[in-house]
Amino acid sequence: MYEIIRQLEERRARARAGGGKKKIDAQHKRGKLTARERISLLLDPDTFEEWDMFVEHRSTDFGMEKNTVPGDGVVTGYGTINGRTVFVFGQDFTVFGGSLSETQSEKICKIMDQAMKVGAPLIGINDSGGARIQEGVSSLAGYGEIFQRNVLASGVVPQISMIMGPCAGGAVYSPATTDFIFMVKDLSYMFVTGPDVVKTVTHEEVTQEELGGAVTHTTKSGVADSAYENDVDAIEQVRRFMDFLPSNNTELPPVRPTDDPTDRQEPSLDTLVPENPNEPYDAKELVTKIADEGDFFELQPDFAANMVIGFGRMEGSTVGIVANQPMHLAGCLDIDASTKSARFIRFCDCFNIPILLLVDVPGFLPGTAQEYGGLIRHGAKLLYAFAEATVPKVTVITRKSYGGAYIVMGSKHLRSDVCYAWPSAEIAVMGSKGAVEIIFRADMDDEEKIAEREREYQDQFANPFRVGSRGYIDDVIMPHNTRWRICRSLRMLKGKKVEHPWKKHGNIPL
Ligand code: HXC
Repeated sequence: MYEIIRQLEERRARARAGGGKKKIDAQHKRGKLTARERISLLLDPDTFEEWDMFVEHRSTDFGMEKNTVPGDGVVTGYGTINGRTVFVFGQDFTVFGGSLSETQSEKICKIMDQAMKVGAPLIGINDSGGARIQEGVSSLAGYGEIFQRNVLASGVVPQISMIMGPCAGGAVYSPATTDFIFMVKDLSYMFVTGPDVVKTVTHEEVTQEELGGAVTHTTKSGVADSAYENDVDAIEQVRRFMDFLPSNNTELPPVRPTDDPTDRQEPSLDTLVPENPNEPYDAKELVTKIADEGDFFELQPDFAANMVIGFGRMEGSTVGIVANQPMHLAGCLDIDASTKSARFIRFCDCFNIPILLLVDVPGFLPGTAQEYGGLIRHGAKLLYAFAEATVPKVTVITRKSYGGAYIVMGSKHLRSDVCYAWPSAEIAVMGSKGAVEIIFRADMDDEEKIAEREREYQDQFANPFRVGSRGYIDDVIMPHNTRWRICRSLRMLKGKKVEHPWKKHGNIPL
């Protein structure tokens, strides 16, 4: 017995050593933690239950049978984050560059299957040279098995990808099918084809960082949700992030007790909207002033900044917040803002998270770039996502809500449960200047007449009462009471149930 226990300890030590001291030192020298260090920081202390640490690859080509490392380049298992179970895999770059072998894929699939069975989130830490080259198509098949499970798990358990090293080639498509992607600045990258291939095919010279670094994906492509300074920062933020999410689609997110009074008034909101309708204000100020303790986890802060998305809490319960940002492009809806918010709304709807829309939108962004880029199709995603969502939906119109954007941004017509307007709300087909230029074109040379017409239009439409008289908003509320009114609405909506006619799935414009 002692002998077998000694052997066990020896085998465990071998597995824990990964690729050995030299490779671990190299990993540290780059500013990266090892897979095990990452997992132990991510999970609550001493909760990690590792599976399959003795698994080795079965490859025999290129002399691989003489080159095995227990665990085969990925650490898998489960533990807890703030007391709730999560499944996790962390690719170990110190072993064959974390490359994905057939057995590595089997290990990952095993915990994915288990996460689905027990209804717990899945967190993947990616740090890998991609498909294990020595294994050829077996490793590609391994990716396929993972992709299939990502898709089946979508909408059932939250899936989070942390990119903490290379993630290239088809390997990017597993994270891409998960719900959220978090990257580490300067140390991680994602691209389908690397700089060398790019140079050969398009003659563009581009560095790895420029092509697929964290800044690129959080500012230009919108592939990733946030970029963090280093491994520790990213891990701490993911721990904080997980507290906003339920474990699966049959549960509600955890409720965090709060001392922030539900009926807290915020007098500064009464002057948030400037007198001049063309002057911007910061939508994030509004968000943090109404959320519990001002706590807001923003996603994609530097991509499509004209739309703010993220999680906050009201009375301790998670709310998905979507707000037009007048500070960027006057809060217009464009392609990126539409896809960004549509996907977020769909996540909230999958996972029983009420949606709060804060509306100040002058319309869809005009221009050939937008039209040629498919604004119609992409804008329709937002419309579709909001109209389809059956979770509680609350809308607050703070200022402009014009045209198609009025309908799309949380109108009653798309089944918003509660729709409030501030006294400063202007709800119309378009702004007064544009409207007058069209309907009184004949008077355009007469400045005085046009000014008079504009005033007339303003009086008619630049207020919430016209819409209120139709019942398209439920009430005009004082800005300082916004938090209280939203909390009360969400409380009322807790029992909301909406049934849809049977269908396999809808056909969202992709
Ligand atoms: C096997 C690999 C590997 C791979 C790296 N290694 N990638 N082994 N298969 N894909 C090994 C290296 O041989 C080396 O082993 C160790 O990992 C560390 O790699 P280095 O090159 O020394 O590290 P570094 O200089 O940091 O470069 C990292 C890297 C580079 C940029 C990731 O290794 C690289 O370009 N790898 C190949 C990437 C690639 O083309 N993969 C296939 C993509 S296609 P030793 O023993 O020397 O330490 C793909 C298709 C997926 O993935 C399709 C899914 C549908």
